[in-house]
Amino acid sequence: MLREGLEKQEILKILSEKLKKDYSYKSGSILGSMCTEPFDFGVEVYMNYISKNLGDPGLFLGTAELEEELVAEIAGLLNDKNIIGTFTTGGSEANLIAMRIAKELRPDISNPEVVVPCSAHVSFDKAANLLGIKLKKANLDDNFELDLNHFESLINKNTCGVVGIAGTTSLGLIDPIEDIGKIVEDENIFFHVDAAFGGFVLPFMRYLNYKIPAWDFSVKAVDSITADPHKMGLGIIPSGGFFLRDSSILQKLGFEIPYLAGGNFKHFHIVGTRPGGTVIAFWAILKSLGINGFIEIVRECMENTQYLAACINEINGLKLATNPVMNVVGITTENNDSICKIDEKLRKKNWMVGKFEDFNLIRIVVMPHVQKIHLQNFINDLEKIVKELNIS
Ligand SMILES: Cc1ncc(COP(=O)(O)O)c(C=O)c1O
Repeated sequence: MLREGLEKQEILKILSEKLKKDYSYKSGSILGSMCTEPFDFGVEVYMNYISKNLGDPGLFLGTAELEEELVAEIAGLLNDKNIIGTFTTGGSEANLIAMRIAKELRPDISNPEVVVPCSAHVSFDKAANLLGIKLKKANLDDNFELDLNHFESLINKNTCGVVGIAGTTSLGLIDPIEDIGKIVEDENIFFHVDAAFGGFVLPFMRYLNYKIPAWDFSVKAVDSITADPHKMGLGIIPSGGFFLRDSSILQKLGFEIPYLAGGNFKHFHIVGTRPGGTVIAFWAILKSLGINGFIEIVRECMENTQYLAACINEINGLKLATNPVMNVVGITTENNDSICKIDEKLRKKNWMVGKFEDFNLIRIVVMPHVQKIHLQNFINDLEKIVKELNIS
């Protein structure tokens, strides 16, 4: 470490040089991320409140109140006004919280198991590992949809929880949440829905008249939902969201920190110190965009999604893994050629897509920063690569 600090200008110059290596959303080359540039007014608000700490809410009563207001707004989107909720570091933490609740609510089970679709995000593997839960993975059918019979067959007396996904990581598909609900309805099994991605897409797609099956708290058996502001909510990183139907669980299972300056409170989080600035920023983003602002953002993403899907259908040798349900497009090869070679060549041309080797597909997430011109350039390069590799 330097003994004498550097001039600010010099530091800024070094930083700008070093950070040139980073990819930027605005360049359009990030095609495989579920994050995006936060909404600019949110950034402005965030900068004013970066020291707010919701890990000690007794000191930041105003921030804590804004968090409650924000949960109430989101409760409307998730179809149950009486839920409680809180903001996390992301979908992984929210899913971990849900898995812990599922386990803790069933102390009678000594070898707890949770049933998930095999399309579930890796955060469930992490949570299972950390919590000593056995994860049972249900198969998908040829269309990448959940095999419900297999899912049901994995449930047994050790099952403390089940998970459905509203917006899978690989393809943006929605599991049959109502059907899963019927299976666990009369059982003492916690039902969590992972809508980390879909949570801020699906409510707005309904306004755009897309047919969306019931996936949220309108399904009676759903106990909790993950929905992340830092994905399609255009929130500041890190901001995930965890929402829970039965508020009494917080009193039963919440952790308490005995020494806080603001006094004791119960919380579910894995982290202690927790950003308040991101929550305040998301409150401001919701106020600023309103429902109509989000509808317009989702409308544009879906138009670009449909454009991309139509272009893929025109390329010999490639096909859509499945018809996109939301703004996620999976691309695979017609004759089972490996997608890895295509991914490698795309990377060399600076197209950063997601690769799912198990499903032999690459994934484009058509986020708000992805413009039609980016997709046109991407398609041009993709067509050339497919020809070079003799894929047909
Ligand atoms: C469906 C789903 N759940 C959870 C996560 C994890 O979210 P995070 O990266 O914010 O922890 C992701 C990440 O893409 C996801 O797609």
